[in-house]
Amino acid sequence: MPPPAEPYPFRCARAGDDDVDHVMVRVLDTAALRFPRGGEPDPFARYRFLMHAYHLAMAAGLDDREYTELIGALGRSVAAVDSRGFRVTPLHRSGLLSDRLGFSPRGGVWIKDETGNVSGSHKGRHLMGLLIYLEVAERIGLTAAADRPDLAIASCGNAAQAAAVVARAGGRALRVFVPVDAQAAVVARLRALGSDVVPCPRQPGQPGDPAYLRLRQELAAGAVPFTCQGNENGLAIEGGQTIAYELATQLAGTPMDHIVIQVGGGALASACAQGLREAAELGAIPRVPRLHTVQTTGAHPLERAYARVRARLPEGDGAGRGAGGLWRRDDVERALAAAAHHRSDYMWAWESEPTSIATGILDDETYDWRAVVGAMLTTGGQPVVVTEDRLAEANALGAAAGIPADPTGTAGLAGLLDLLQARAVGQDERVTVLFTGVRRDGAAAS
Ligand SMILES: Cc1ncc(COP(=O)(O)O)c(C=O)c1O
Repeated sequence: MPPPAEPYPFRCARAGDDDVDHVMVRVLDTAALRFPRGGEPDPFARYRFLMHAYHLAMAAGLDDREYTELIGALGRSVAAVDSRGFRVTPLHRSGLLSDRLGFSPRGGVWIKDETGNVSGSHKGRHLMGLLIYLEVAERIGLTAAADRPDLAIASCGNAAQAAAVVARAGGRALRVFVPVDAQAAVVARLRALGSDVVPCPRQPGQPGDPAYLRLRQELAAGAVPFTCQGNENGLAIEGGQTIAYELATQLAGTPMDHIVIQVGGGALASACAQGLREAAELGAIPRVPRLHTVQTTGAHPLERAYARVRARLPEGDGAGRGAGGLWRRDDVERALAAAAHHRSDYMWAWESEPTSIATGILDDETYDWRAVVGAMLTTGGQPVVVTEDRLAEANALGAAAGIPADPTGTAGLAGLLDLLQARAVGQDERVTVLFTGVRRDGAAAS
């Protein structure tokens, strides 16, 4: 727990060079809350009662109107920078995909389409949540506008582009660490948005992402982590949870059996898992769907960690929730707590430089592995590792369904194709996939 006056409750104060997986997790007191039923088009307004910043603001004496005005002003700034603000994104059952994949009329594939979101992906959700927090902290006097530290992120794709838009909208300086082979068009766009772009060469013999290693130095020197990685900034997960809250509202009580999520650093899957769990606790969905994750044969550090945690567990209770089995929450929590104290036995940088057409899920490490492994084990989901052919097949299907997503954006669908083949998903079941990123000519997605 951070002290109440800690202005940046982002990273565990005890995080250091030990082998412990330190992560800050925002905990919602669901017993004291109701699931928001408002119709505001901006998810940060609609779901404000579920946000840490909102409760902080109220405790400091702001009222609901002042908070919504603050969000409204930030939203207008985002729209001025990116020509669109944050809006609840569409969800629909794809008749075309459901038929082609052999689902019955009872089951099917639901697509949550993020391709029209701010900056063309879901990433801005994580960062808008952070910006709102930073603005509230300033408004209530936890921090001073005259003394704003720079923001920093390591990415050369969707996360960086979203961060540049959101930081610009908030009038904040952003430093972006990128690999030397970052796409020229992306670097140009970041610079046009006013970001300071720092190329980071890979050092021979040094495992791990060089841009991420450089980011770590910058954070140690006092920059604020404006990242989409929960280990660097636990609060970044919260903004991503708006996807799950929206899904819960849009399903309007229809039970969903599975959700299949592409995983790079793991913040997206971690956010969906936590958001769905909270939505179920608040009675907004009848049950949490099984959460499956998708990585590529190019790099699958999450699948490696899952296998190691699973090996520590007693056999599943045979509750028949699929090939992944279903374990008791306390057994899972015990195994994960033990794993967290020996992080390097479970999660370490992928040994070789990975490649894939799904560039956004090629992270050397799954930074948010612990929450995601836990969600798979407790919901009965499983990790799926897909081939390049599968990724291409899914992307073509996504295009046939009329959505201009890139191969990272349709990677969840690639995982669903594998799950169907393995009969881990049945034809009468309902499945959600997230089309997370728009196709951009020639640009990387991470
Ligand atoms: C389009 C898209 N989808 C999914 C992901 C994976 O998200 P995460 O890194 O949070 O696992 C990324 C990450 O870059 C992405 O760009």
